[in-house]
Amino acid sequence: MNDALAYAQSHADTFVDQLSDWLRIPSISTDPEYNADTRRAADWLADDLRRIGVQKVEVMETGGHPIVYAEHYIGDDKPTVLVYGHYDVQPPDPLDLWHSPPFEPVIKDGDIIARGSADDKGQAFMHVKSVEAYLQSGTDLPVNLKMMIEGEEESGSVHLAPFIENNKDLLAADVVLVSDTSLFAPGVPSIAYGLRGLAYVEVELTGPSKDLHSGVYGGGVENPINALARMIADLHDENHHITVEGFYDNVRDLTDEEREAYKALPFDLEAWMEEAGVKATKSEAGYTALEGTSGRPTLDVNGIWGGYTGKGAKTVLPSKATAKISCRLVPDQGPEEITAKLRRHFEQHVPDTMTLDFRDLHGGHGAIVDTSAPAMQAAADALEGVFGQRPHFTREGGSIPVVADFKKILGLDTVLMGFGLDSDSIHSPNERFGLDRFHQGIEASIRFLDAYAKQEA
Ligand code: BES
Ligand code: ZN
Repeated sequence: MNDALAYAQSHADTFVDQLSDWLRIPSISTDPEYNADTRRAADWLADDLRRIGVQKVEVMETGGHPIVYAEHYIGDDKPTVLVYGHYDVQPPDPLDLWHSPPFEPVIKDGDIIARGSADDKGQAFMHVKSVEAYLQSGTDLPVNLKMMIEGEEESGSVHLAPFIENNKDLLAADVVLVSDTSLFAPGVPSIAYGLRGLAYVEVELTGPSKDLHSGVYGGGVENPINALARMIADLHDENHHITVEGFYDNVRDLTDEEREAYKALPFDLEAWMEEAGVKATKSEAGYTALEGTSGRPTLDVNGIWGGYTGKGAKTVLPSKATAKISCRLVPDQGPEEITAKLRRHFEQHVPDTMTLDFRDLHGGHGAIVDTSAPAMQAAADALEGVFGQRPHFTREGGSIPVVADFKKILGLDTVLMGFGLDSDSIHSPNERFGLDRFHQGIEASIRFLDAYAKQEA
């Protein structure tokens, strides 16, 4: 392992140059205009994996964007680690808020700034460089390695679960390793043991069959925007509880130990509020903001539109109002269950002046990983080696639906060893990834493979 660590150290700058090259490829999976670029990002990665000496590398078709699959076999006596990540990125919009072009990486104050730098090219690449450090320093990998880097994570991973179903033998492993989450704070190592799920819907109310003059018809015809706004306002009560019937039925309550662990985290509420740009927090009664953002379910309107939104005034009584609404879920809530409950809620509450169109967009399950699993302890040892302190085990508010699929389809636990920070602006303008964390992540990956092999031996 020491030769690998030394190799990573002496090649630190080269690794950053290579990452910059990959970040220059705009692999925006949700926008068909970027299909060729998205494929180019897959090919780029496959070429790098071949160049560093990985035995088997394939760009596999899925019906959507391809999956980069790689394999390096050492021996039957070694455990097998499956690394998952994604090479696709979110659209960079709004472009005018970027201080430099999103696909021309720049390094500023120790951060590499580009779309995908933290989510997830920079983090996925840490494992590629860890493997390179082993193979190119003449050290055998301590484990059998499989890698599956997908290109549709930011657009719902629609082809991923079928791919896993159809390739169970190919993907057979002992554990999954993912870096697509965050450190608790700079210099404060953490391993995520919980992720939230998601249920995403779109709701449209139609009142009059066409837009009307608000002076001629207003007062006799109900306005769909007024009606939708009232329905949305009623989705929370005064305790910020979600009012959808049965919404909390399958929520796994936070245990006393978990709530103690939340309290033990070095959380700076003032700094957190400043980062979010808010003057006060708002969470479900009885829960802290930290619990609310990771251990409890939510319902948020992501967008709402209708009527006239152009310049000046137009006296219109609109025909339609539409909203995108998503719920973050916690185990053991399921996206189908919650979407069905939301549908029933809207059907029961729609005023008889309106017709309702309720559309299910997508969803995914949350996950809780057993922190006592050998791989979790190996990850804790690896992070201790890098940071000189034991990591915290944390729950995170974001979603990586494939983690539940790994458990359900392959029976595998996932170690979520992420190096992002909430302040990385993922999905926002000026996304960044600290180069210190990039290098710490490479070191942690090298140490994890070694520690896990020893655990299993
Ligand atoms: N890397 C994020 C998920 C994440 C972010 C986990 C921060 C923990 C902390 C991932 O790429 C992502 O954005 N996922 C989507 C999933 C959705 C489209 C199903 C999300 O959470 O919105
Ligand atoms: Zn991600």
